[in-house]
Amino acid sequence: MNDNLIIIQNLKISFYHENGRIQVVRGFDLSMDNGEIIGILGESGSGKTVSATSILRLEDEADSIDSGTIFYKGKNLVELTEKEYRKIRGNQISYVFQNASNALNPYKKIGLQLTEVLRNHKLLYSRSIVVDVLKEVGIEEADTVFDMYPFQLSGGQNQRIMIAQGIISKPDLLIADEPSSSIDASLRKTVLDLLKNINQKSGMAIILITHDFDEAKYLCDRLIIMYGGLVMEEGFVSDIFENPLHPYTGELIKCASSLSRGDNPVYALEGTAPTPLQFTDECPFFARCKQRLPECILGIPEMIVMDNRKVRCIRYK
Ligand SMILES: Nc1ncnc2c1ncn2[C@@H]1O[C@H](COP(=O)(O)OP(=O)(O)O)[C@@H](O)[C@H]1O
Ligand SMILES: [Mg+2]
Repeated sequence: MNDNLIIIQNLKISFYHENGRIQVVRGFDLSMDNGEIIGILGESGSGKTVSATSILRLEDEADSIDSGTIFYKGKNLVELTEKEYRKIRGNQISYVFQNASNALNPYKKIGLQLTEVLRNHKLLYSRSIVVDVLKEVGIEEADTVFDMYPFQLSGGQNQRIMIAQGIISKPDLLIADEPSSSIDASLRKTVLDLLKNINQKSGMAIILITHDFDEAKYLCDRLIIMYGGLVMEEGFVSDIFENPLHPYTGELIKCASSLSRGDNPVYALEGTAPTPLQFTDECPFFARCKQRLPECILGIPEMIVMDNRKVRCIRYK
């Protein structure tokens, strides 16, 4: 029980919009142990990034959390002051952003950027500590790269630098937001292998945000499936893959399998995911669901909790 690293309950997040406050995350729950790898999966716009960045209170999310708790090592992060947060952010929990080229400072040498992470958190720093981390993320000629600028490196190398920046403080939890989306498909597996390696060697817990089922299956122990700002299903990867309970999960797996088989045309889920402005008080997947029932529009389905599994669908009530 003491192995719990982070427990998020009933998190709801809104943003200001010209029409007033609008809720984008309507129910996010996550419970994670030390050393675990959890995937958050769902189509673009489902609320993955907003849910995960709220853990670190990036983008002033403190103002936008409507309700919920984020217990990290027994402390509710929602109640922390900004000063207290700075000790955790980038030190005990770090975030690797979706787009590496935007997240690195173009005017600073790689070595300096990594050294600053250590200095900001009052950790021991030296050139050799930084060079060792560069080697750990698979940067060849790390000593030369230390003195280079991001623009002198490839997209794949910059992605590794971002991961180095995320792990240099030896956090307990690394959040990797679509870490392979901006790099060449042929290099994606190497980034996942790198994360797997870091997890196995250091026991660092990882949250992987992705819209790619194969990626999640390759790296994660457990999965959280999001849609319309809600968690729709949660469980161990193997259980979910063998027996998806939520119709949305089933569709995602069908799309992924069709893609990896090389079907022509590839099976695609019809329609689009609702945006927060389109949210209603019915199951958000209703419009696209092939197993829908008339009752599905009577309210947002409750989360049904089973052994090692959760699903938000009235067919399991
Ligand atoms: N700062 C913001 N202000 C207003 N709306 C936002 C903001 N950030 C994200 N959103 C909206 O929240 C929803 C969820 O976004 P996001 O978490 O980025 O989705 P995902 O990561 O699953 O693709 C989207 O509809 C997005 O437009
Ligand atoms: Mg995102």
